[in-house]
Amino acid sequence: MFSRVNSLGLFGLNAFPVTVEANVSAGQPTFDVVGLPDAAVQESKARIRAVMGHLKLKLLNGRVTVNLAPASVKKIGSMFDLPIAVALMELGGLVPRVSDDAAFMGELSLDGSLAPINGVLSMVITAMKNGLKRVFLPVENAREASVVEGIDVYGVRDLPQLMDFLVHGTGISPEPKYEPSVFSNKHYEDFADVMGQYSAKKALEVAAAGAHNVLMLGPPGSGKSMLAKRIPSIMPKITFEESIETTQIYSVAGMIDPSAPLVCERPFRSVSHTASSVGLIGGGSTPRPGEISLAHNGVLFLDEFPEFDRKVLETLRQPLENGDITISRAIGSVNYPCDVMLVAAMNPCPCGNFGNPVKKCTCTPSQVGAYLHKISRPVLDRIDIQVEVKPLKYDELAVRTPQESSAEILERVQHARDIQAKRFSGTSIRSNSRITSDIIAEVCPLENDAKKLLSDAFDSLGLSARAYDRILKVARTCADLEDSEIIKKSHVSQAISFRSLDRKYWDNFS
Ligand SMILES: Nc1ncnc2c1ncn2[C@@H]1O[C@H](COP(=O)(O)OP(=O)(O)O)[C@@H](O)[C@H]1O
Ligand SMILES: [Mg+2]
Ligand SMILES: [Zn+2]
Repeated sequence: MFSRVNSLGLFGLNAFPVTVEANVSAGQPTFDVVGLPDAAVQESKARIRAVMGHLKLKLLNGRVTVNLAPASVKKIGSMFDLPIAVALMELGGLVPRVSDDAAFMGELSLDGSLAPINGVLSMVITAMKNGLKRVFLPVENAREASVVEGIDVYGVRDLPQLMDFLVHGTGISPEPKYEPSVFSNKHYEDFADVMGQYSAKKALEVAAAGAHNVLMLGPPGSGKSMLAKRIPSIMPKITFEESIETTQIYSVAGMIDPSAPLVCERPFRSVSHTASSVGLIGGGSTPRPGEISLAHNGVLFLDEFPEFDRKVLETLRQPLENGDITISRAIGSVNYPCDVMLVAAMNPCPCGNFGNPVKKCTCTPSQVGAYLHKISRPVLDRIDIQVEVKPLKYDELAVRTPQESSAEILERVQHARDIQAKRFSGTSIRSNSRITSDIIAEVCPLENDAKKLLSDAFDSLGLSARAYDRILKVARTCADLEDSEIIKKSHVSQAISFRSLDRKYWDNFS
């Protein structure tokens, strides 16, 4: 006797169809699971036995073999408990044959109830793409799964409830589609609270408009953290497509709130400088996403930038460049997206006061140099916009003059983003920061004097090719903010000024 049930497996973000085949033949009672199962899958034997016993369901007499196909792919996790149980119930005649367009996934608890699993969104998307019409999964995962169009989601409380449904067709109905009403920026703090700091605000506006990485440098208390926290308030609302991408990462990481399962705001991940490289870019034996992927489509904020382990900072280079990260392990490699806007903040020196007009720096030049050069050139090169944040004078702070609100800034940012959306329609590029070298000349037309300024700067500043391209992309964003199709000299000059800390600090303390 033979039965077959559809399920899905997961490795990183990659879900794949799995067929659970169960077979019973005469002989001494045995129970085997084959097809590259990991330890968690092997344990499901014990759970299924216990559940069957608890529910007084007779597990089949004879030699029972369960095969997870395709056998060439490693099966990880506890989601196969449910499809194995269903295959066995079918084999034992406890439920009728389940239809080919249904899939099952879920972990069983010993009392027969279903426990939630991670990565449901990716698996249900794959189920739908493979033509499946119905999916049965733990009730706590149902709302998350319901956002996928074109497939009915049945949230199952426990095995008896599912048996009842499979036998009588009653007791469970498809989960209503979850539609979050808010895709908003409303939880963020507002730029209206920040007095003065006009050049920093302008730099952050350009950064948000083109999703450019940004570094803020200034003494303690100058407002760097305050400014950083407000960046998401001037970024365009997350789109549904972006939300689905980001939610898949949170789902795999087991960080979903079952009652509000979609990530409906751009993430803002503030990471402590004690973070390891695994914590920051991901890893582990079954590779988990790191903070940079949890910040996908949002902001990765690294405060006290030079306090990070230098090796950890270096690992950021490739992911920042590519917008995704591949983690290779013996069992295979995993790719996680990490299209983030990096926001870094730092003091200029160990005591913090170098360059401060009011307080005196107590560091030696070599201490200042060593501190700055914890940020290597290649890392610095990947930060398009650098801005010095000077401490406000007392009267600037005390006179609480009304400041521009985040909503007003966002209006300009949104306009620049709309121009970019049109420019990049039909491509996978979402912002100027991701312009690829094959189209950069075409999408960044320069006026003659702008061209001259850029080539002069290239020679006099000794720019690297990467820095050159990045200046051009920032100039593109400056032009978009002014609704100019062609890039003018003023835009190039603004973009170059955003790289001035390089020379003022790093070059002077080499
Ligand atoms: N421009 C500003 N407008 C209003 N308050 C400010 C400003 N700059 C600093 N502050 C106040 O000083 C505090 C410290 O700023 P913070 O952002 O933590 O500085 P930093 O990160 O540069 O050390 C803020 O929480 C805020 O109360
Ligand atoms: Mg701070
Ligand atoms: Zn100092």
